[in-house]
Amino acid sequence: MTEYVTIATTAEVKDGERIIVEVNGHYVGLFNVGNRYYAIEDRCTHDDGPLADGKLTGTVIECPRHGATFDIVTGKALTLPAITPVPRYAVRVQGDEIQILI
Ligand code: FES
Repeated sequence: MTEYVTIATTAEVKDGERIIVEVNGHYVGLFNVGNRYYAIEDRCTHDDGPLADGKLTGTVIECPRHGATFDIVTGKALTLPAITPVPRYAVRVQGDEIQILI
């Protein structure tokens, strides 16, 4: 069963910031880009490396290990060596709480 779970407050993830949190056994990267929030699994689909602390350009994140890039809005793999999308999570804001569907 999936449900919305609070993972941060808006004060904790300001525009241009990100955090990585563990939720129900999953590592999740939460990003604030232009005061919109996006959440993806912190695991590259190429070789399971940590992804969410990679270089972010707009909404494109680059895996620190081998350079694959993903769109954090859609999860789509944009460049090799990754070909499989990274799982993403629906995000909503309730008051000052940021929640993901997980
Ligand atoms: S583990 Fe991310 S590109 Fe290889």
